Amino acid sequence: MKRNFYWCFLIFFLNIGDISGLNQPQTVNVPKADKYEPTWDSLDTRPIPPWFDEVKIGIFLHWGVFSVPSFGGEWFWANWQDDDPDGEYVKFMEKNYPPGFTYQGFAKDFTAEFFDPDEWAELFKNAGAKYVILTSKHHEGYTLWPSKYSFGWNVHDVGPNRDLLGDLAQAVRAKNLTFGLYHSLYEWYNPIYLADKNNSFTTQEFVDNKMLPEMYEVINNYQPSVLWSDGDWEANDTYFRSTEFLAWLYNDSPVKDVVLVNDRWGIDIPCKHGDFYSCKDRYNPGVLQPHKWENAMTLDKSSWGFRRNASLSDYLTIEELLETLAQTISCGGNILINVGPTKEGTIVPIFQERLLQLGSWLSINGEAIYKSKPWTVQNDTLTSDVWYTSDGDKNVYGIVLHWPDKSVLQLGSTVSLFSETSPTVSLLGNTGNLTWNVDSDQGIVSIELPNKSTVANQWAWVVKITSS
Ligand SMILES: *[C@@H]1O[C@H](CO)[C@@H](O)[C@H](O)[C@H]1NC(C)=O
Ligand SMILES: *[C@@H]1O[C@H](CO)[C@@H](O)[C@H](O)[C@H]1NC(C)=O
Ligand SMILES: *[C@@H]1O[C@H](CO)[C@@H](O)[C@H](O)[C@H]1NC(C)=O
Ligand SMILES: *[C@@H]1O[C@H](CO)[C@@H](O)[C@H](O)[C@H]1NC(C)=O
Ligand SMILES: *[C@@H]1O[C@H](CO)[C@@H](O)[C@H](O)[C@H]1NC(C)=O
Ligand SMILES: *[C@@H]1O[C@H](CO)[C@@H](O)[C@H](O)[C@H]1NC(C)=O
Ligand SMILES: *[C@@H]1O[C@H](CO)[C@@H](O)[C@H](O)[C@H]1NC(C)=O
Repeated sequence: MKRNFYWCFLIFFLNIGDISGLNQPQTVNVPKADKYEPTWDSLDTRPIPPWFDEVKIGIFLHWGVFSVPSFGGEWFWANWQDDDPDGEYVKFMEKNYPPGFTYQGFAKDFTAEFFDPDEWAELFKNAGAKYVILTSKHHEGYTLWPSKYSFGWNVHDVGPNRDLLGDLAQAVRAKNLTFGLYHSLYEWYNPIYLADKNNSFTTQEFVDNKMLPEMYEVINNYQPSVLWSDGDWEANDTYFRSTEFLAWLYNDSPVKDVVLVNDRWGIDIPCKHGDFYSCKDRYNPGVLQPHKWENAMTLDKSSWGFRRNASLSDYLTIEELLETLAQTISCGGNILINVGPTKEGTIVPIFQERLLQLGSWLSINGEAIYKSKPWTVQNDTLTSDVWYTSDGDKNVYGIVLHWPDKSVLQLGSTVSLFSETSPTVSLLGNTGNLTWNVDSDQGIVSIELPNKSTVANQWAWVVKITSS
């Protein structure tokens, strides 16, 4: 880091401030004096903006031209191009579209005529989510904002003729949720990208004339608080100029103090560098991680983009969603729950139902989730799957995934809490304290849960253990 130079200025200004009087706003902020260099060694020293770890739950939206066929998911174009002559994508096209139909032909039907961003934002808020991440551009290259670097292939030139990204950003922020963007570095069929690829990525025409200009444009114009990078697996970070871009993002961009990025910035970078690690899709390691991470997962088990032909069993149940949530939060992750909107701009009722179920659960049990910290132990499988969180102080929360036999919950990991002091135990959403006893020889605490029929929520219960 080029720190010393800036420290001189800082000290200079502080001295002036002292002389000129005390009623000046405190604009001097030591971390702002840091300048990150375009190297991972330097970028990795950046402390992550604290808001992200506190909010825990986000909504991911995969929306684009792929939402028009809504067949197979967001990889439709590539799956179709790579399909066998008698494969299901080729057959789908032969059956439903005229010969010679190209992928670009779908864009005029990306109409979004029912898109009501306020309604979406209200749904996400009621789900208990605190941030929303939209695909600004997926691997197809179509931009959800009117980018001047994506001529003829953006929301203004073809499709809804509406700034979908800008309108959603505004609605989300009006509900006090944080707005962020997904962005794909590569574009499957962009001829400039393919030419660079042909040159083994020794030329950077695509990066310099398309990818980076649009990244600066979208950050400057919409100021996202998260930049969720993807499409990095064919070339390295040198080709994408990732560290140069991130140094600008951290030093000079309008979001430098609040923004976080994930780790998909080139071959061999995921799970090694970035403010938070997304590693691989649906990453859920099940053990405490030393670095902040995020589980980007889907409610439709097999797809990020909407699939018109999905059946009920293709979606996670609320029990499965809460299990994933509990595992993720206990191990220090955030959860980013994906929803695939339709080409008309609606979010189908199955997604709404799952999100509102989550919201109702969080309205009772959110204390165990938001702003929580991992506890000493993450899970316990003695009589029931239990995942722990804590408030970093006197409270430990056990998220109980299955109601135990005879309503007696046995925990193996919390004995020390009970043998040293006499804690108070309760069930969130229920009045009254629970009785418990300790078998120190066996190392087991038995907690008597109330009658299940009197308990407020139906799936996953939270036992709160408060040490005195
Ligand atoms: C739905 O589409 C997928 C292709 O994505 C196909 O594999 C599956 O069989 C279809 N399901 C039904 C019920 O048609
Ligand atoms: C907005 O969100 C922040 C952080 O989650 C919270 O502290 C604040 O009270 C919220 N404000 C409103 C008006 O909801
Ligand atoms: C890539 O190289 C091949 C073979 O040299 C050539 O046929 C093709 O047109 C090239 N593609 C691009 C996009 O430059
Ligand atoms: C990154 O890729 C370029 C182009 O293929 C190559 O010249 C360079 O050596 C690679 N850099 C690293 C660090 O692997
Ligand atoms: C914690 O969960 C993991 C993954 O589900 C499991 O393998 C492990 O046995 C559990 N540990 C305990 C102590 O229950
Ligand atoms: C539960 O225990 C705490 C601590 O001993 C006590 O302050 C509180 O009054 C108890 N609550 C009820 C409903 O008995
Ligand atoms: C729980 O409550 C139900 C309904 O009030 C009752 O039928 C049942 O006997 C109770 N079970 C226990 C173990 O108290």
